[in-house]
Amino acid sequence: MQDSPSRLVLRRPDDWHVHLRDGAMLRAVAPATARVFARAIVMPNLKPPVTTVDQASAYRDRILKAVSEDTRFQPLMTAYLTDHLDPFELERGFTEGVFTAAKLYPANATTNSAAGVSDLSKITKLLERMEAIDMPLLIHGEVTDADVDVFDREAAFIETHLIPLRERYPALRIVLEHITTEQAVDFIRSASLAGDSRIAATITPHHLHLNRNAMFMGGLRSDFYCLPVVKRECHRRALVKAATSGLPCFFLGTDSAPHPRSGKESACGCAGIFNAVHALESYAAVFEQEGALEHLQGFASEHGPRFYGLPLNQENLTLVKRAQTVPRRLESTPSIQLRDAGLEASEWPVLFHAGETLSWSVQVDRQAQTN
Ligand code: NCD
Ligand code: ZN
Repeated sequence: MQDSPSRLVLRRPDDWHVHLRDGAMLRAVAPATARVFARAIVMPNLKPPVTTVDQASAYRDRILKAVSEDTRFQPLMTAYLTDHLDPFELERGFTEGVFTAAKLYPANATTNSAAGVSDLSKITKLLERMEAIDMPLLIHGEVTDADVDVFDREAAFIETHLIPLRERYPALRIVLEHITTEQAVDFIRSASLAGDSRIAATITPHHLHLNRNAMFMGGLRSDFYCLPVVKRECHRRALVKAATSGLPCFFLGTDSAPHPRSGKESACGCAGIFNAVHALESYAAVFEQEGALEHLQGFASEHGPRFYGLPLNQENLTLVKRAQTVPRRLESTPSIQLRDAGLEASEWPVLFHAGETLSWSVQVDRQAQTN
């Protein structure tokens, strides 16, 4: 990586956690991810969820159709774990190269997770198979008990479920997704420093920028509502330190989660922040502020593939120091070629950082990696 105050050449990054949705929303949002990221781990929480090899391979085809032909983009598919998923189907998907990983949603923890796992004891056969074939387990790490405070659900999950899970399946490759607390940072960092290279965490741009005040600035702000919910400032600081530390156990996963406007702006608004369009610029702002731009390439482009045992991308992408104001809606974003997605005008998702000025801009040039 060469860096200078005005230009940063990076190995092309990957997004290790994204929601691309389906239908019109997929056609609207997938080009934004494919423009910047070479690969993406695509979340399976569709309606109905992606639980079979055939569903995943058909979904992968729809994603490839939704991105323009000149973007080389590889969707990496995930299986949605349920109490009743057949371990042979899961293994077949993995060995045939359709499933890259499996996602554990505790039932009712988040959007479209009702069919998720009701109790970890229900999926011991699946977890044993995954450990045996070295298939990564991606975890939405929140307990769902109504009597646990929503801000404590991640920390409670680590104590109650993750620590025992790690003890029971020491070789299982685990990603704790979209971490939000200093407890999660400490747990992952300590495990990694103790030599456990099979556990890691993704960190989103919004959890690096926002603390929980954002949801209540001048009123109730559903655009800043996501799950796990953003936490206190001390947690945001811990996440910033972790992401910019250069430690290989932390890597990029945007958790970009678009919802139609009617879903966000309602009496019971959906959780999810749509950040795919300016995700890399958003991360760059945090790394620059920390004086840690030299660690951006590791976080965005190297730690993830190494954890998943995949090759590093050989193309480059350039971030230039050129200020840009983020438009309010995806619909009015000049860098994205919007094809006829078929999304109602009123339903285009609002962008993360809408109305703010970001000081970096991605310039996609696709030179071969030289170093
Ligand atoms: C995600 C979604 O909308 O699918 N929402 C979110 O707030 N992150 C689900 C998830 O990842 O929890
Ligand atoms: Zn997610």
